[in-house]
Amino acid sequence: MSRVAILISGGGSNMEALVRDMTGDHPARPVLVVSNVPGAGGLARAAARGIPAATVDHRAFPSREAFEAALSAELDRAAPDLICLAGFMRVLTPGFVTRWAGKILNIHPSLLPKYPGLHTHARALEAGDAEAGCTVHEVTADLDAGPILGQARVPVLPGDTPEALAARVLVAEHRLYPAVLRRVADGDRTPLLLP
Ligand code: GAR
Repeated sequence: MSRVAILISGGGSNMEALVRDMTGDHPARPVLVVSNVPGAGGLARAAARGIPAATVDHRAFPSREAFEAALSAELDRAAPDLICLAGFMRVLTPGFVTRWAGKILNIHPSLLPKYPGLHTHARALEAGDAEAGCTVHEVTADLDAGPILGQARVPVLPGDTPEALAARVLVAEHRLYPAVLRRVADGDRTPLLLP
């Protein structure tokens, strides 16, 4: 059984989708949720599901490296096989990524390699794209550029705002991330391409 830690910064809807799926014959179980934002909505959602939850507030540390050392110490106690970034909004240094090499997954709200970084939905609308979507990828030292493990697509509709498109993509995220985590926990890292 794989042990999964989930890192969040916000509401935690992707975290909840992952946790909801990790029951029964699923090859993994959630062992820890960590937020870098005190009071993030996802912390209460994790606690409500009986998952150990911790806060490592990045603002309490003098450097990115010091924050990541505390984060790694928290993770070490949980000994995860996989670390899922789920709306985790801190860039991780190469040192952290190397420490947990091959174990970190991320969900990003665009069809990578399009639109790494922030404001993905506004950028897709500005470009006049006919479709948008989300990507789960392995985390490497290059931001939003690691090997793609899965993608799901949604249409862009007439009159879409960034908020409307984000809501449609988020529904696709909740389909994609649990499906990819299942495959990866089973040892299958071939890309899962959902319509
Ligand atoms: C999701 O849309 C996720 O893809 C995005 O933040 C949202 C978190 O929602 N992540 C990023 O932008 C990462 N750079 P959630 O907290 O409800 O899962």
